[in-house]
Amino acid sequence: MSERKKPLIVFTKYSPYFVVDMEKLEDSKGNELPLKPVTALCRCGHSMGKPYCDGTHSRYGIDGSKSEERVPYKWKDYWGEKITVHYNAGVCSHDGSCVKGLSSVFNINKRPWINPDKASPEEIIEVIKRCPSGALAYSIDGVRYSDFYNGEPKIKMARKGPLEIYGGVILKDDEGSVPETLDHYTLCRCGHSKNKPFCDGNHLRNKFIDA
Ligand code: SF4
Ligand code: FES
Repeated sequence: MSERKKPLIVFTKYSPYFVVDMEKLEDSKGNELPLKPVTALCRCGHSMGKPYCDGTHSRYGIDGSKSEERVPYKWKDYWGEKITVHYNAGVCSHDGSCVKGLSSVFNINKRPWINPDKASPEEIIEVIKRCPSGALAYSIDGVRYSDFYNGEPKIKMARKGPLEIYGGVILKDDEGSVPETLDHYTLCRCGHSKNKPFCDGNHLRNKFIDA
């Protein structure tokens, strides 16, 4: 039996994402999409054949630089009696899984916006596991947990949002970008993130669409 190759994503500041040896690409409904041994995926947001690159970036250009105006990278701890939730706004892709999943704990209209005593640790963990970006982690009894995905490596297109990368997919670019955790992270595919190559939620402000 041939040994399975480790998938990776390679790119430069001015290129699309080149996905190498990846076996699974899913659309937002869970349908599998075709992949070649090396597949170029759009990161400028302008391809007419998303998620694939169709070369349109040569007209618009890609600038994969990080902006000075990006949200600072900073972990904050939210202490509860049984569980501590950790959150880093500089990593968040603002997909809203936390606030939609458990608004008693994650509520942006309250301060602090995370209150770990408003639900059981099990409920909170369940929601933290749905965070695609790596912006949420938790600790119990002094042990920190930030990796939750158990399946095969895969890329999932979030609806009108970033590429969600799961399962230890190595990222290699000319900027030395490092995901918060290789277990799960989100890559910008709208072209508007201030924290490229990672998604920072700006697809929402810019009304990015998949088509
Ligand atoms: S990326 Fe994570 S922390 Fe940010 S909104 Fe989504 S679930 Fe919440
Ligand atoms: S896809 Fe989220 S900021 Fe570009």
